[in-house]
Amino acid sequence: MAGYTITVAQQKGGSGKTTVAVNLAVHLRDAGHSVAVLDTDPQGSMGRWFMTRHEATGGDPGMEFSTASAWGVGYECDKLKRSNDFVIVDTPPKADSDLRPALREADLVIVPVSASQLDLWATEAVLELIDRARKPALTVLNRARAGTRLSGEIVAQMQDLAAPVAETVLGNRVIFAEALGQGFGVTERQRTSAAASEIAALAEEIVVMLRV
Ligand SMILES: Nc1ncnc2c1ncn2[C@@H]1O[C@H](COP(=O)(O)OP(=O)(O)OP(=O)(O)O)[C@@H](O)[C@H]1O
Ligand SMILES: [Mg+2]
Repeated sequence: MAGYTITVAQQKGGSGKTTVAVNLAVHLRDAGHSVAVLDTDPQGSMGRWFMTRHEATGGDPGMEFSTASAWGVGYECDKLKRSNDFVIVDTPPKADSDLRPALREADLVIVPVSASQLDLWATEAVLELIDRARKPALTVLNRARAGTRLSGEIVAQMQDLAAPVAETVLGNRVIFAEALGQGFGVTERQRTSAAASEIAALAEEIVVMLRV
């Protein structure tokens, strides 16, 4: 299989980029693919997750990890793609020229939108940048609270943006935060949980879009 690069981007901080990136990585790896994760965010959250994982798994994290600053993204992606089915790229909360290299490498860009109006407003800028890079994007509602009107309203407004909206909605679930802090994905903590089903469904949509 050719190596696919999935970049997770959103200028709004705290929208769930790192959460989505690491959970997709764990799920794809559990599904039998070889996976690498690449942290391009100077905050280094994905790196912290990976180091925690490295320790928690007794040095057998099951995936490759690397970091790159904007100018090194192309080189790192090329290298990781050669030996992995998927490269998952986490990015800083920005929609400027620093993000461009990670978009340029992407076969698909996932844009998490936390269930708030502020997140929605921030989404247009990143979608514009993705469009300029001529890359396909998929927006996904994150931290949705079941049965609230807000989540429904945000999804409705997401439909008016320039990118398709994932059918899968990620709920606001403590397990996402817990697993992240322990260096795991939700699939590894609670295989039969709603959170794990949501990640599996999102991964399935992504695989269909990539026509893997
Ligand atoms: N679906 C969810 N349910 C519950 N908590 C979540 C969910 N998604 C993210 N979080 C929590 O929200 C916080 C921000 O998430 P995360 O770090 O993934 O966002 P980010 O977009 O990567 O942030 P930054 O822009 O700072 O890089 C974290 O504490 C995370 O555990
Ligand atoms: Mg992050």
